[in-house]
Amino acid sequence: MSETSSPAAIDRDLIVAQAASLFDGECDPIANAANLSALIFGAFPDLNWAGFYFVRGEELVLGPFQGKPACVRIARGAGVCGTAWARCETLVVPDVHAFPGHIACDAASNAEIVVPLVGADGAVLGVLDLDSPRLARFDAADRATLEELARRFVDASDRP
Ligand code: SME
Repeated sequence: MSETSSPAAIDRDLIVAQAASLFDGECDPIANAANLSALIFGAFPDLNWAGFYFVRGEELVLGPFQGKPACVRIARGAGVCGTAWARCETLVVPDVHAFPGHIACDAASNAEIVVPLVGADGAVLGVLDLDSPRLARFDAADRATLEELARRFVDASDRP
């Protein structure tokens, strides 16, 4: 298997249904972010990190996650996470070493996807960040699933 081969198929509808079930009747953003990061980390193959950063003033601050300890504060516009926040768009990065300003929290990371958490008023509340050791790990289907999970997290939870 090469480093860029496709990951194993996953049941995306099941993951979304599991997230909906975890959020059912729960609006605490920390509890929901903690459970969603654990669900994602277990369900998506080939991840070394999955978790949240929340907007605090002009910075992102680390939230619940799975993986190795990570950098705590990221300025708006810095790294992949700060850029996804500033642009208010999902960033799919096939090779983080080719992304100018990438912030390396775990030397194992080679690919990354960052999905902004967009509130009802259009403001970015934070980001959902996944890292993989596998180059070009994240595809359009991953993006669609993670954007759906991020939407459901925002809809279910109080403002983080
Ligand atoms: N690589 C990210 C930093 C966060 S860690 O990947 C957990 C970035 O460049 O923003």
